[in-house]
Amino acid sequence: MTGRVQGKRVAVIGAGAVGPGWGNGKASAVLYAREGARVLAVDRDEAAVMETVGLIRGEGHEAEPFVGDMVVPAEAKAAIEAAEVAFGGLDILHFNIGISTRGGVEDTPFADWQRVFSVNLDAAFHLTQAALPVLERDGGGAIVYISTLAAELSGPYPYAGYEASKAALGRLARSVAAEYAARGVRANTVLPGMIDTPHVLAHVATSSDAEAVRAGRAAQVPMKRQGAAWDVAEAALFLASDAAGFITGVDLRVDGGMGLLMGNAAP
Ligand SMILES: NC(=O)c1ccc[n+]([C@@H]2O[C@H](COP(=O)([O-])OP(=O)(O)OC[C@H]3O[C@@H](n4cnc5c(N)ncnc54)[C@H](O)[C@@H]3O)[C@@H](O)[C@H]2O)c1
Repeated sequence: MTGRVQGKRVAVIGAGAVGPGWGNGKASAVLYAREGARVLAVDRDEAAVMETVGLIRGEGHEAEPFVGDMVVPAEAKAAIEAAEVAFGGLDILHFNIGISTRGGVEDTPFADWQRVFSVNLDAAFHLTQAALPVLERDGGGAIVYISTLAAELSGPYPYAGYEASKAALGRLARSVAAEYAARGVRANTVLPGMIDTPHVLAHVATSSDAEAVRAGRAAQVPMKRQGAAWDVAEAALFLASDAAGFITGVDLRVDGGMGLLMGNAAP
């Protein structure tokens, strides 16, 4: 490995996975560590976060766990403080958590709308607010937000709360990018398309045939395959690293070309 984030201190928010295999957050945490970073692995699920920490330590790298629910402002603040305690500061905030409920505007209960916004947007706000002074104090740094292609384009099924909250997340990223451009902190967003993760399979757990679901998703992608969590992790690593030092406020699609077609998707 080439040490693309050698010596950096990273907080990965949502570093576990909701099922067996590689989720986007878990792969990102492991990749940052492989590339030389010390990783604070943050998750509300203790078992999930300990699995990620164990994988990183097992490869001889450095990771510390933090267990907390990031929709609670005090717990988000405590997560950033934990990075300071563990590593003496913070260079990269990687915001991965995100949930969705399927439904259009008329059939989305307000409670679902609020729950989705609390995780996808409010938690990002709490963590960003807590992290910015630390990042700036430590000489500048980077924030990477994991959004979705659906923040920009409609797919075949409506996810009103998910789409709106992720669009707002992208706008938060650009607000941070503009406000902090001269202060050394960069903020960018990754827009994954169809990625084969435990999160997706958990969503379709009622389906008797996971392989059929996988094939159906792959068929919608111009490259005729789903991405892997590692594709998302590599994009995030690049944006977080000094190699992207002149890049801020961008949305990077990781979608096998799907965004080229989604505007024409059937309703
Ligand atoms: N898989 C895809 O096809 C796809 C496509 C587009 C976007 N995304 C985005 O990728 C991200 C999810 O990636 P993943 O594979 O790591 O998902 P995941 O669902 O496995 O989540 C990772 C971890 O986040 C934790 N988490 C959730 N809410 C939390 C909270 N409030 N506080 C602390 N931890 C919390 C979970 O416990 C889990 O361990 C989301 O932002 C999602 O919108 C995924």
